[in-house]
Amino acid sequence: MTTVVGPAESARRATKEYGSKEPAIKERPMADEYLPNPNLKIWIDGKLVPPAQATVSVFSHGLLYGDGVFEGIRVYNGRIFEGPAHMKRFALSLKAIRLEIPYTMDQLVDAMKQTIKANNTIDGYIRLVAARGPGTLGIHPFRTVAPNVFIICDRIQMFDPEMYEKGMKVITASTIRNHPNALSPQIKSLNYLNNIMAKIEAIDAGCLEAVMLNHEGYVGECTGDNLFIVQGGKLRTPATHCGLLGGVTRRLVLKMAQKRGIATDESTLTRADLYYSDEMFITGTGAEVCPVTEIDKRPVGDGKPGAITKQLIADFRAHIKSGEDMLA
Ligand SMILES: Cc1ncc(COP(=O)(O)O)c(C=O)c1O
Repeated sequence: MTTVVGPAESARRATKEYGSKEPAIKERPMADEYLPNPNLKIWIDGKLVPPAQATVSVFSHGLLYGDGVFEGIRVYNGRIFEGPAHMKRFALSLKAIRLEIPYTMDQLVDAMKQTIKANNTIDGYIRLVAARGPGTLGIHPFRTVAPNVFIICDRIQMFDPEMYEKGMKVITASTIRNHPNALSPQIKSLNYLNNIMAKIEAIDAGCLEAVMLNHEGYVGECTGDNLFIVQGGKLRTPATHCGLLGGVTRRLVLKMAQKRGIATDESTLTRADLYYSDEMFITGTGAEVCPVTEIDKRPVGDGKPGAITKQLIADFRAHIKSGEDMLA
């Protein structure tokens, strides 16, 4: 059986896995596993404060309506990983929902660096959020005052380290991904209920990820990651027009595969393609690259992580260690 670990245990394992120095932030007691670590420093609207002071109004439209956007960014070895690609996507998300914030992307990068430093983070995860500010109770997005912008720098481990070696199980969810003309999955919005409904299906089925099909029945993505398969030596992933987030990790993996001379294909995938695939894996900032070895109770290939998957995981880890950005 898969054990779901909480943040404190995750932090211990992440520290072990990446060989980081002991974090300066004190770990919280086990009883507080799901509470914010009180020792963190949060950057909110220009100030670094403890979590208890990092608050937004109950009238925030980010809270009332999920009206806002975010980025999830890794910090490896004290450095923002693929920062330019994340900031570009953040700026596009802001533009798409017509949210103007009083900071440039460069100022936000500086704020993230301050937050990394304040938390002595070596390996961690940044959550950068811009939420439409407090306003009237109607949904009118412009009857609001200044937006809230905040940066959390903490630790994350989405899956048990064992899954990266042995692979994970997934299901296909009955909840379809948002229609791109309703709320485009390309916008990294604060409204994740669509994904959460599918995540609940996954948890109920005894796994941690679900594949979401799009409005036409083609494969979209997972609840918090992109999906890849290998078929006859070719690496395949749904094209972004199928309704999915253009993941930074997805772009990296495509690039790394091309560098290795592996044929790649961004097109439409059916559920049958998933059942007939030789290999499968998911990609995401939180998830990194994780093999999938079972879908809807069918083994993927021979039920073990495949050779191309393992190669790309090794390439991804080498890229992390390189300390360079690959994407513009
Ligand atoms: C719905 C969804 N798809 C895909 C991804 C993967 O994107 P990235 O690799 O940029 O983290 C994420 C995670 O951020 C996500 O939430």
